[in-house]
Amino acid sequence: MKHIILITGAGKGIGRAIALEFARAVRHHPDFEPVLLLSSRTAADLESISLECRAEGALTDTVKVDMADMADLRRLAAHIIERYGRIDCLVNNAGVGRFGSLFDMTEADFDYTMNTNLKGTFFLTQALFVMMERQHSGHIFFVTSVAATKAFRHSSIYCMSKFGQRGLVETMRLYARRCNVKITDVQPGAALTPMWGDVSDEMQALMMMPEDIAAPVVQAYLQPARTVVEEIVLRPTGGDLQEE
Ligand SMILES: NC(=O)c1ccc[n+]([C@@H]2O[C@H](COP(=O)([O-])OP(=O)(O)OC[C@H]3O[C@@H](n4cnc5c(N)ncnc54)[C@H](OP(=O)(O)O)[C@@H]3O)[C@@H](O)[C@H]2O)c1
Repeated sequence: MKHIILITGAGKGIGRAIALEFARAVRHHPDFEPVLLLSSRTAADLESISLECRAEGALTDTVKVDMADMADLRRLAAHIIERYGRIDCLVNNAGVGRFGSLFDMTEADFDYTMNTNLKGTFFLTQALFVMMERQHSGHIFFVTSVAATKAFRHSSIYCMSKFGQRGLVETMRLYARRCNVKITDVQPGAALTPMWGDVSDEMQALMMMPEDIAAPVVQAYLQPARTVVEEIVLRPTGGDLQEE
């Protein structure tokens, strides 16, 4: 059966790993035919992950989208409606962070983070949930963070955006349970991705890898229709890299 799956931020890091994991699931689940809609701002990344997913036997479609641009979000939703007429899974993964002391954060840092993590995530979810409600089926993943429930000193705006996403998760559950739609909040701790920039060898040794997040996401999607995995919390075995 075909599954129409949109992954935002699919070009790098955790989103890229989730796309590959969905594609690889074809091997073990012959009835599972994912159509992976891969989106981010960088076309070259999308081309490369698309080729890798196709090599695993998945169908793909790439859509260059800036989550902070309302016109792009409308174009993405219209594309899905026109080409597929349905959506089975939305993985709200695209996200950004600017890190540093509270006193160094600027209005530009605030707008950059909030426009992608909160505004973009909200309006894309709003546009696509309408389809799921009509279908009476679907699954929405929010890749939030451990920083959605715990503050970190150098992550003020990022934490605000992630605590805010958690507000959206909880609100969406109230709508979703009424129409057979599943909601999963994925809260990773530190995973080695381009988001971190240059990372020392010592720190790398303490971090998770993107595929560690991707595997439980796809397992959660493949649960029987009667069961929803509501939360996935994953941390490095040694705990968070910074405790405050
Ligand atoms: N890595 C971690 O330790 C960690 C821990 C907890 C939670 N998370 C969350 O996991 C998610 C993925 O993070 P990551 O570590 O994989 O980050 P990453 O390596 O920087 O990848 C982020 C992806 O999102 C895309 N993206 C960013 N802003 C976008 C925008 N405005 N419009 C469209 N696409 C956009 C990026 O592509 P372009 O730049 O090409 O658009 C990229 O493909 C984020 O929500 C992050 O907050 C990460």
